[in-house]
Amino acid sequence: LLCTSGKRDLLGKQVLISAGGTREYLDPVRFIGNPATGKMGIALAQAAFHRGADVTLVHGIVNAEIPSGVRSLPVVSAAEMEKAMLECFPTADITVMAAAVADVKPANYTREKLPKRSLPESLPLAPVTDILAQLGHCKQPQQILIGFAAQTGDIVTPALEKLHRKKLDAIVANPIDLPDSGFGSDNNQAIFLNKAGDRIAIAPGTKLEMAHRVFDLVVSH
Ligand code: CTP
Ligand code: CA
Repeated sequence: LLCTSGKRDLLGKQVLISAGGTREYLDPVRFIGNPATGKMGIALAQAAFHRGADVTLVHGIVNAEIPSGVRSLPVVSAAEMEKAMLECFPTADITVMAAAVADVKPANYTREKLPKRSLPESLPLAPVTDILAQLGHCKQPQQILIGFAAQTGDIVTPALEKLHRKKLDAIVANPIDLPDSGFGSDNNQAIFLNKAGDRIAIAPGTKLEMAHRVFDLVVSH
């Protein structure tokens, strides 16, 4: 029923997952965010736990329950997620970055709420560091690093570019413009791309089914 197939093939493995969206605050009441609910990353954490792994879940804003048995490290901003991921990464055997991390943040944070009349007409932005690319940079040969690419239209070309640029072992190209997949949905589908050049379709199913499929592919490839 839980589509675990009773596999215990991650027994003794340290699995690190990121999930959910980050928030980049402008002041205490306004932020730049995204529609992520964390369901895919939480499903990955659940699947890894079922398969015997020791699981750490670094999560931003989520709209789903964190499975018991999983070590939960809540964060809000991309900077907090970066710190938590960099701390946990050195001991992780398998890392999957499913979080929807901000690409930009407001250039300045104001501690006091800004009255709307003092909000600028155009908001100065500053870039956010790419967490996954940093992990790819400091990855040891025995570590496995997997990214996600939420895309519209052609999902393969940009995902392959990210696979190589971020020095990943594999990337899950995830269409977000199809009905019943992507942000907020309980279901999902994808194309799994690895650095060996394999391209494997993950058929539509629940996010937990897809999570198991991802680990099936990670274990077998
Ligand atoms: N990612 C990250 N840190 C960021 C942005 C993205 O770690 N600041 C990770 C995501 O968690 C995901 C992967 O990088 O695993 C791809 O994210 P995506 O948004 O698709 O790619 P970007 O490199 O941000 O490119 P763009 O948004 O322009 O498509
Ligand atoms: Ca992005």
